[in-house]
Amino acid sequence: MTVLIRGGRVITSDSDRVADVLVEGEKIVAVGASLDGGDCEIIDAAGKYVFPGFIDPHVHIHLPFMGTNAIDDHASATRAALAGGTTTVIEMICPGPEDEPKAAFHEWKRLAEAGACCDYTFHLAVVRFDDLAKDQVRELVQTEGVASFKVFLAYKGALDIADEQLYELMAMARDLGVIMTAHCENAEAVDAMQKRLIASGRTGPEWHEPSRPRAVEADGVSHLCTFAELTGAHVYVVHTSCGAAVDQAMLARDRGVHVWVEAVAPHLVLDKTRAEQADFEGAKFVMSPPLRDAEEHGRLWRALADGRMVTIGTDHAPFNFAGQKEMGRDAFTCIPNGIPGIQERVDLVHTYGVCEGRIDLQQMVDVCSTQAAKIFGMYPQKGEIAVGSDADLVIYDPAYTGTFSRTESESRTDYSGYEGMPRLGRPAVVLRRGETVARDGRYCGSEGGGRYIARPPTH
Ligand code: URP
Ligand code: ZN
Ligand code: ZN
Repeated sequence: MTVLIRGGRVITSDSDRVADVLVEGEKIVAVGASLDGGDCEIIDAAGKYVFPGFIDPHVHIHLPFMGTNAIDDHASATRAALAGGTTTVIEMICPGPEDEPKAAFHEWKRLAEAGACCDYTFHLAVVRFDDLAKDQVRELVQTEGVASFKVFLAYKGALDIADEQLYELMAMARDLGVIMTAHCENAEAVDAMQKRLIASGRTGPEWHEPSRPRAVEADGVSHLCTFAELTGAHVYVVHTSCGAAVDQAMLARDRGVHVWVEAVAPHLVLDKTRAEQADFEGAKFVMSPPLRDAEEHGRLWRALADGRMVTIGTDHAPFNFAGQKEMGRDAFTCIPNGIPGIQERVDLVHTYGVCEGRIDLQQMVDVCSTQAAKIFGMYPQKGEIAVGSDADLVIYDPAYTGTFSRTESESRTDYSGYEGMPRLGRPAVVLRRGETVARDGRYCGSEGGGRYIARPPTH
């Protein structure tokens, strides 16, 4: 199948020009002026942007967590991703402390193979690190293309890992060339603060943020970076919510630590007043690290604009309000953490980043696609518009205006974190390896078709 995308403004992280893009089968075969595709499908992209397919470096789909399971499956979540212009996702494999890493990897991969519509790969969360787990983790890197680990410096007693094990794991990551992604908070401090708040009757979702303030997150980043300094491991701080945490990473970078910092959409456009809404409505906005004061938005956008932060993910963590968030009516500590948003990310960044002049279009491509491909070993197969790259392409209509709404979403959650917010722009056509799978913000592909991306360690 040959497809000619004609006359769009082709925007990559390092170029911006009007050009045609020619696709043969699953690959881009030419980019240039006045290309001739012969008898082929033509997509008129005049007046539109042509972006490389976006990559979400931080999603949860299959997620057994806090006594329940996230309600998307790989079909619904990846349809949502594609409808929103995301053609590749990196999902967190989050086993429990009793689970074996190999079994967890194969379980997540089996589920994704059965349903995923977009391409996918995994960060492997390491929550146990005994001798058996050590051997299995090493094997997964060497035989299955797992090139990034995840650790939780949070969720005491559930997912967190002791410092001795953290050190050993990071030393192993360094040896293998695997990058360590990390949820950074001080788990002990959070636990102590939660206990005090609950004991004194402060049980509503508005107490979630005070139970894990900015200092707790900054301390987590500092802790991770200390271990990176000791071991030489390369580290990537996920879902960073505040300037104080970014500052800690930059102090470490100045000392020579190899550290990258991720933002996620909720922290860029939502603030903590959402979680303070009455009648338990705030539970919809409980995530960790929590939504902060609105003044943090500017700090994060500035860090993205000047390169201190390098990626924007979603941290898509789809729990229903009914029956799931409601588990925490008596105590905010029992509200499953997370906000859905896999479909909305690209349009949020366009609306609140580009249209508000906080980042430009090339930076949007860089932080929403190219950097993730580079950091996580998928470049230039992904994250680029060039001959030989996968034909993952988003023909984007910047003139569309609307509002975000759950009714537009392919995700199964019973609410949208962005309900009613203005939306400027949407994907007009999305190609996954040459096949049109979404039009005008709606999924139009067939079932499945997503492919696992095995990645070599690159750090
Ligand atoms: O609140 C969040 N972020 N939920 C998903 C799990 C995690 O910590 O990433
Ligand atoms: Zn996390
Ligand atoms: Zn997460």
